[in-house]
Formats: sequence, structure tokens, C-alpha cells
Amino acid sequence: MTSTPKQKVAVIGGGGNVGASTAFALIAKGVPAEVLIVDLSEQAALGQALDISDASFTMPGTCRQASFQEAGQADVIIITAGARQKPNEPRSNLIDRNYTIIKSIMDSLQPIKSTSKILLISNPVDVLTHIAQTTSGLPRAQVIGSGTYLDSGRLRNALSDITGVSPTSIHAYMLGEHGDNQFTGWSSARIGGLPLLDHPKLKGMDLESINQRIAHKAYEIIEAKGSTYYGIGMCAAIIAEALLNNTSQVFPLTHYVEGLGCYMSWPAAIGSSGVEQSFDVKLDAAETKKLEVAVKAIKEVCAKYN
Ligand code: LAC
Repeated sequence: MTSTPKQKVAVIGGGGNVGASTAFALIAKGVPAEVLIVDLSEQAALGQALDISDASFTMPGTCRQASFQEAGQADVIIITAGARQKPNEPRSNLIDRNYTIIKSIMDSLQPIKSTSKILLISNPVDVLTHIAQTTSGLPRAQVIGSGTYLDSGRLRNALSDITGVSPTSIHAYMLGEHGDNQFTGWSSARIGGLPLLDHPKLKGMDLESINQRIAHKAYEIIEAKGSTYYGIGMCAAIIAEALLNNTSQVFPLTHYVEGLGCYMSWPAAIGSSGVEQSFDVKLDAAETKKLEVAVKAIKEVCAKYN
């Protein structure tokens, strides 16, 4: 029996909780890929790979440990390595530590296959995606970050609780930055073809408090259990699956937005060539102000770390 070789997804930092949750989500979702677990700690990588491979026996995907060199040849390279936030620490504080880590990972992956897509998960993800692109040598379209996809999922779950509609039927985004400057795109949000804010259950609600609750959910989780990993692991697996299967699905992701001149979290359609389209979301005056704040913050940090 001949079988076509599986596409490869490398998870860098796969020895840690975010990497292992990503790898586990890929297997549990039934993505038919070879998942490569890579970590500076070879023992942690081996342990996670052996454990996750135990979860794969009824699934089409497989999981094993691999080297940085092999990871550089993967179809999708997911970067989860790096320092994580302490309780109450903003994601932006991690830049000094994670800048050095991401640069050294990019060196270890070289030569990177010219058709690979890199998916950044480490924080601050918008800035690190910019750094990964410039150091990888890959075209902009092939280097993306998880951006505000997780935050948008948190928002859709919260709106589902309020409206009683499935989160899959709620089209609403957190935008700008996967950080403290994220904001809800209320004016563009839709539910069943209706502007979300026209839904009777949303009338009279304190929108700013919903926005704040979403933006602070990671802090709440970190306070309670030290770090977040299941939510982001599932998001990373869903994005990787869209890249592998060339689905052209739209996600709010970190990518280079031409009109704004920087990497930021914004809706884009992705497929096997990376970013295919970026969408010009309509914002009202208050949202435009919030976008300007987010873009300014990202650009300032990118300029410092170039
Ligand atoms: C969070 C981390 C991934 O928001 O930043 O859970």
C-alpha cells in the first residue's frame, strides 16, 4: 500500500504547556498531519511527544520529537516558545525576553523551506510576528500570528451567553492588538444578518464592561492557574488546519496590514500561500481612535526592536 506523505506541522516550544496543548489539539481535531515536537529541553519534548502520540492511535495525525533543523522544513511552523506573563503582567512586558528567544529560534530553523508558513503564538504576538518575518527571510504573507483570534472567541462565547445564539453564528471581532489595546469592533458585528447592537438582548448593556472583561480574561486565568494554554492551543490548531487545507477562512490574525503600515490583529483570509486577503473593516469614530492607539503602540515597539 502506498500512502501520500503527511504534511508536517512543527511546534517549537512543544515541551511547554502552550506547545503541548497545540499539538494535542491538532491530533484530537483529527488533522492528518505529522506533528513535530521541538524544544530546547529535549527531555520535555520527548515526554510530550510520547504522551501525545499515545492520544493519536485512533486519529489520522501522528506525533514525534524532532530537531530545529527538521522543523525548518515543515509546512507550518508554530512558535510557542518564550517567557510567559506573571500575574498582572501585561503581554507587552515580555518583549525584551522574547525578542532574543524568537531571534535565536529563527537562526536555529535555518534554512527555512521557502513555502513554509510561520505561525507565531508567543507574546507580545503582534510585535514578535514582525520580528519573525524580518529574521525568517520569508515573504510577509507567509508569517502570521494568532492575533486576536482567541480574544474574538472569548467575545463570541460571551455574546452567546447574552443572546442565546451559538458562538459560531456570531460574527464579531476583537481587533488591533492581542494585548491591553485590543478593542471590540461593535459597529461591524453581525448576528443573523442583523447588526449585533440591534439584537434586543444587547439593548442597554454596558458595552465597555464586556470589552474590558474580554481584554482581561487572560489575566483572570493567569491569576487562578498560572498560565493560559487550552484556548490558545485550540486556536493555533484551527489556524494551522486552515493553512494546511487551503480553506481561505477568515480569522482576526496578526498580519501585515498595508493601509496601516504594520503588523497588527485584523481579519484576513488564509490558505496554503498564507495571507490571501486582508479586510478593510468599517469602524466608527470611537473605534478608529482605539485603532490609532493600538497601531501607535505596536509601531513604537517594532521601531525599537528592528
Ligand atoms: C491569552 C494568551 C495566549 O490571551 O495571551 O490567553
